[in-house]
Amino acid sequence: MTRLLLPVLLAAAAHAETPAAPDRKAMYEKEIKPLMERSCVGCHGGKDAQGKVRARGGYRATSIAELEKGGKEQGAGITWGKPMESSLYLLSKANRTDDLAMPPRKSKAQPLTAAELETLRRWIETSK
Ligand code: HEC
Repeated sequence: MTRLLLPVLLAAAAHAETPAAPDRKAMYEKEIKPLMERSCVGCHGGKDAQGKVRARGGYRATSIAELEKGGKEQGAGITWGKPMESSLYLLSKANRTDDLAMPPRKSKAQPLTAAELETLRRWIETSK
């Protein structure tokens, strides 16, 4: 039993030491895009009834490049590796009583949950 188990444990330990670094693009497609579509795109990149793109605050949230760029007033949407210098994260995380909090308090859009904010933070910290 011990003999059989040891290689298995060693393999598991080796695996644990080198967790696959999350890939920025894959993580965007799988975890970030659905969040943006649910809570943000309605005002940032989606089209209105006339087919005109809505970009409130000059911000669009339908691609990594747009998310990164940011809008008119709050600086870079994303500074890779620095969530606290990323308006995308700061405004999503802002206290709901804050006027800048996204989505705006008065809108019906669903704010990001604590777990989703954590996902967003991890994504901004991806290195590639
Ligand atoms: C109901 C519409 C609405 C929704 C939904 C919404 N926003 Fe906004 N957003 C705005 C408006 C309007 C502004 C312009 C500033 C203001 O008036 O507060 C803005 C501004 C911003 C800015 C700052 C742009 C600048 O000036 O640099 C960011 C970043 C932002 N939103 C991110 C988000 C994110 C992320 C979400 C989803 C979690 C979201 N917004 C959801 C309406 C919305």
